[in-house]
Amino acid sequence: MKRYLASQLLISLLLLISFSVSASRFLRSENDTRRNLLTNGVGRTPPMGWNSWNHFWCGINETIVRETADALVSTGLSKLGYEYVNLDDCWAELNRDSEGNFVARKSTFPSGIKALADYVHSKGLKLGIYSSAGYKTCTQTQPGSLGYEERDAMTFASWGIDYLKYDNCFFDGTKPIVRYPKMTRALMKTGRPIFYSLCEWGDMHPALWGDRVGNSWRNTMDIVDNWDSMVSRADANEVYAEYARPGGWNDPDMLEIGNGGMTNDEYIVHFSIWAISKAPLIIGCDLRSASNETLAILGNKEVIDVNQDPLGVQAKKVRMIGDCEVWAAPLTGYRMAVLFVNRALFAYGIPAHWDDLGLPQDTVVQVRDLWKHETLKKTYKNKFEPTIASHACKMFVLTPIS
Ligand code: GLA
Repeated sequence: MKRYLASQLLISLLLLISFSVSASRFLRSENDTRRNLLTNGVGRTPPMGWNSWNHFWCGINETIVRETADALVSTGLSKLGYEYVNLDDCWAELNRDSEGNFVARKSTFPSGIKALADYVHSKGLKLGIYSSAGYKTCTQTQPGSLGYEERDAMTFASWGIDYLKYDNCFFDGTKPIVRYPKMTRALMKTGRPIFYSLCEWGDMHPALWGDRVGNSWRNTMDIVDNWDSMVSRADANEVYAEYARPGGWNDPDMLEIGNGGMTNDEYIVHFSIWAISKAPLIIGCDLRSASNETLAILGNKEVIDVNQDPLGVQAKKVRMIGDCEVWAAPLTGYRMAVLFVNRALFAYGIPAHWDDLGLPQDTVVQVRDLWKHETLKKTYKNKFEPTIASHACKMFVLTPIS
């Protein structure tokens, strides 16, 4: 009997120990996302720049990246705030060196990443890089950083990297909330302020924990250069509007403007929704040969100003009527950005009521059209109802005047 009791006691003790070990592990990983691990001070407004993936996929090299940096300056886009020049997948050799360090791909980046960073910095711009919270990146052509977080973060910092996009391919079965904070800590340890862009595709609702871990979080799978893909990413991202704030932004993926799959009006919708949604404005076309139409969209300062407004509040849809919708976001100075989008096949008049916008009744507003660059002659009270063409939008700033 005594022996039986002793063995029962031992079993209970062992169960208790293993339960507390796993509970403390669980709580530790929970704590990882409850505490603010990232205090790097960057991303007070949504990041602006360029990334190689949407246009070039794996076909990048140092010449393209240098010429893109040149183009950001010569087109005037850098003056408007586009500062990050970001490498995506395919910049590294498949194998690390004998010490376990990343090696730049010799055939396409023969001068190395440090030299590229120096060049980009000499233009007054910043260099971004890409890795994955897994064993390989998504193209399987280079290693990921899982298990190498500190080493890789130190390498990136020593090269002068300013932005890290961190993908989610080929991992060990653990959840993003376990893998992504490891890189947060590693980046913080370098002491270099590096914008940290989480790219786990919205799998584990990163908006709910991303602001403690990164400066932005992708809420969607990859965008494709067509209307349906673009608006579906916008919709998925809008759901999480309340989680965006200076230092941490919802990310509906990068821009397709200039890649040829949408009409000019549709690209204007794309840019307007991204801007009012406080999304990262990361250009995804070949800037070296961008058309005037493309540059006019990407370079619309009045729309960029909405994106970069210091209040940092992401727009929500405040009214929907069938395929027509009104998006609105407050701006500094009691102003309001309002975007009317028509997804239907015919033109429609779409109303915004002051109730929708949170404006007090009888407030009189002045209306600035951000795409026509003109202030409307008429002032408006209680309701504003422009007509919008099919697959197009109009974007305004409303300023109360009495
Ligand atoms: C994933 C990401 C993309 C891109 C590719 C590169 O699909 O979501 O944005 O970075 O990997 O392989």
